[in-house]
Amino acid sequence: MSQPIFTEIQDHLIIIRLNREEKKNALTGDMYDGICDGLDRLEGDPDLRVAVITGSRDCFTAGNDLADFLENVSINRKSPIGRFLRTLPGLTKPLVAAVNGPAVGIGTTMLMHCDLVYAAPEAQFQMPFASLGLCPEAGSSLLVPQLLGYRKAAELLMLCEVFDANAAQAMGIVNQVVDKEHFQEHAIAKAQQLAAQPPASIRTTRKLLRAANAEQLETIMRMEEDYFMQMLQGAEAKEAFTAFLEKRKPDFSKFF
Ligand code: COA
Repeated sequence: MSQPIFTEIQDHLIIIRLNREEKKNALTGDMYDGICDGLDRLEGDPDLRVAVITGSRDCFTAGNDLADFLENVSINRKSPIGRFLRTLPGLTKPLVAAVNGPAVGIGTTMLMHCDLVYAAPEAQFQMPFASLGLCPEAGSSLLVPQLLGYRKAAELLMLCEVFDANAAQAMGIVNQVVDKEHFQEHAIAKAQQLAAQPPASIRTTRKLLRAANAEQLETIMRMEEDYFMQMLQGAEAKEAFTAFLEKRKPDFSKFF
């Protein structure tokens, strides 16, 4: 079986590629660990200055593996998802994303923790937590309304509507839309540009840009984790995951 995460070093960059195309790069525990190993390497190696995360050319990620969710996977601190959720806000070096195709759930919310995001025109973003009987994660309940305002955040986190790359750029989630043939190369070129900047200055700038949020983000992420864990065991979520895997529409009519 091919590796679901590839990492590659290019000068001062570490490039992390999601590679589970047959399942739309849906994230399993091993994949979260693989991404975190790459990000830990970024943090620990003085030669590395920037990480780039990308999917395959046609798909970023369909979010957490829903079959894993159905098996009551844990998102606590010691689990791979918990490790990933803790690693993102703890980064001291920049993270750049290159996105095409579906960027669902954590595929969209992780972008809030990235410094630069480039997308192909065919990218499709969605945060369907509420439709899945869950609640926002990865600090998105703070970061999304901060970026978009309450009204738009409610639309995206309650109606869970899909939005495209141009809309994501207009909302400030994406820096630039670049054609499908070049979006990954463009993101890597921008990461190289970032890596050529004075590294301590970049780390300090990054820290300051995020400083006002740091404490609040930690508090809200703890709340999200508690609610998410409860809801993951709930009947609404079970119905949503089962319906997806059975390729039918979920029926929430019996819940109150
Ligand atoms: N977890 C587990 N398997 C997933 C998955 C996920 N999040 N997303 C896709 N897959 C699987 C499908 O079950 C299918 O498997 P199969 O070929 O064995 O039936 C395969 O990946 C291809 O997906 P498919 O739905 O046929 O592709 P599509 O191009 O029609 O649609 C998506 C792509 C991403 C829009 C759609 O797969 C989707 O909505 N996925 C769920 C997203 C989601 O809710 N994520 C959780 C967020 S918390």
